[in-house]
Amino acid sequence: MIAPPGAGKGTQGAVLAEHLGVPHIASGDLLRDHVARRTEIGRSVQQFVERGELVPDDVVLEMVRSALLVADDGYVLDGVPRTMAQARALYDAALEMDATADVALHLQVGEAELVRRLLARAEEQGRADDTDEVIRHRLALYDEVTHPILDWYDERGILVSVDAEPSADDVSRHVITALEVVRQIIAGNPDAPRTAINLTGLGKAFGA
Ligand code: AP5
Repeated sequence: MIAPPGAGKGTQGAVLAEHLGVPHIASGDLLRDHVARRTEIGRSVQQFVERGELVPDDVVLEMVRSALLVADDGYVLDGVPRTMAQARALYDAALEMDATADVALHLQVGEAELVRRLLARAEEQGRADDTDEVIRHRLALYDEVTHPILDWYDERGILVSVDAEPSADDVSRHVITALEVVRQIIAGNPDAPRTAINLTGLGKAFGA
């Protein structure tokens, strides 16, 4: 899953993982867990996470690779890759494990709604990086560094883009419907060339 902060990666990742019966591996959750347990990794990444900076690629990749090794039947990967270097490294790691990404899921949400959601969460949960200034920085980093990776998945034909502004339940329905279609396409001919699927205009085309 590749999407900006607040787009619903955590929310939809959990739903999807349950639907597919696979683990939900979220880099942000793994990092926050290390910080909370004050592990060596946690101490080294705490400032990056709290300031909304990207944690160095090698730290993230090592952590995620360990989580992937025990997920034999697939997984929902949330928050990785965030840099082109991470995308390439994960591609190579997947090849070594004789695996490949079936879908790169992109959740599209406008900036005003992203900020609204994160500030609302700040009031409820007080996550250290949900301050106005850090939210703006996280969004800017996403636009600059992470968003361009979508082109790579688009060219490979595995990108599925969904409008994630509606309610979480509606977004879940759209995502699961789209992925079930992809599942059937892959089951029919796993080696056939794929075409990216862009559902972000559905709302405008058909109304709410
Ligand atoms: P991470 O935890 O991945 O944070 P993020 O990308 O900023 O995403 P969020 O968790 O804020 O949002 P989300 O998209 O998961 O949305 P959510 O479902 O929570 O990363 C944190 C930090 O770790 C990074 O800044 C970086 O420092 C580091 N890091 C992580 N991965 C890294 C990597 N690969 N490389 C380097 N550094 C890395 O929803 C947000 C809120 O909106 C919730 O309150 C939710 O209830 C609500 N909501 C969700 N969907 C809807 C909806 N449809 N309508 C209304 N409200 C909704």
